[in-house]
Amino acid sequence: ALPDRVTIWEVGPRDGLQNEATVVPAAVKTAFIDRLVAAGHTIVEATSFVHPKWVPQLADAAEVLAGITRAEGVAFPVLVPNDRGMDRAIECGVTDIAVFASATEAFAQKNLNRGLESQFEMFEPVMARAQAEGMRVRGYLSMVFGDQWEGDVDPAQVVTVGRRLLDLGCHQLSLGDTIGVATAGHVRAVLRAFADAGVGMDRIAVHFHDTYGQALANTVVALEEGVTVVDASTGGLGGCPYAESATGNLATEDLVWMLDGLGVHTGVDLAALVDTSTWMAGHLGRPSPSRVVRALAG
Ligand code: HMG
Ligand code: MG
Repeated sequence: ALPDRVTIWEVGPRDGLQNEATVVPAAVKTAFIDRLVAAGHTIVEATSFVHPKWVPQLADAAEVLAGITRAEGVAFPVLVPNDRGMDRAIECGVTDIAVFASATEAFAQKNLNRGLESQFEMFEPVMARAQAEGMRVRGYLSMVFGDQWEGDVDPAQVVTVGRRLLDLGCHQLSLGDTIGVATAGHVRAVLRAFADAGVGMDRIAVHFHDTYGQALANTVVALEEGVTVVDASTGGLGGCPYAESATGNLATEDLVWMLDGLGVHTGVDLAALVDTSTWMAGHLGRPSPSRVVRALAG
């Protein structure tokens, strides 16, 4: 059975823009975020407080946050990897953050300059301060379904690292197919491994990159397993600069087209998203890779 309602965790301004060759001006980013809220989104991941040399595309995080039009009932989470990122987030009055861990040693090194174990030493003080500040913290886990350097990833290892994030105080765990290699049966197996370890699907979100065109099929399986929070990026932008084969996230338009067809409520207006992607494509100088956007764009 499918859920009646799905919450879309929109990651376009963060995952989408972190990997763009074009430097998008802060004013365009804030207009993008405002448009996503106007389209009905209630969670828009806005930016990252990571090292500006590691991700120059999001070096303007403070300026972007200051420019957003705040809206009742809308959250604007940001990525925070470490204490320095937390200082910057607190200065900006952030209330929702996400830490991001790797399920593999290789990607922990590439993305965080830490090991599988020492990444947690970086998150622990962030979690303690988040609790003191009353912030909500999401935990991302990357390379859940395969790693470009290590190949297959043992689901038992994924569950161990994922549970550690939850035990540290994350309210939700987003399972990342960073390089987009997951297929439907694999998704079902990993979700059941979490369920068998006592992690309810009400604490799990899925984060699919669409490299092999499997993101929608993978999403259906996740919904059948009881997941109700799905990450997506308007226009299908996205990718991690530290994972070479990462391409765009599942496009929010593709997701909404499917969920509308299934009668699953999202609260998000498809036409408004398509307009936004068309507008954004003008700023990026290239068309959206989403086939739904191409089909519906006037
Ligand atoms: P490091 O070089 O090990 O940093 O990077 P450090 O702790 O050794 O500090 C070195 C210097 O950097 C210090 O300055 C710090 O203050 C400064 P100094 O004392 O030398 O003058 N510094 C900072 N400055 C500003 N903001 C900060 C910050 N941190 C340190 N936050 C670090 C470690 C974690 C910072 C670095 O590796 C980093 O920024 N990594 C982030 C990479 C990233 O953003 N990747 C993309 C997001 S993850 C993703 O896309 C996957 C996801 O979508 C899910 C999926 O698809 O799987 C979430
Ligand atoms: Mg991602």
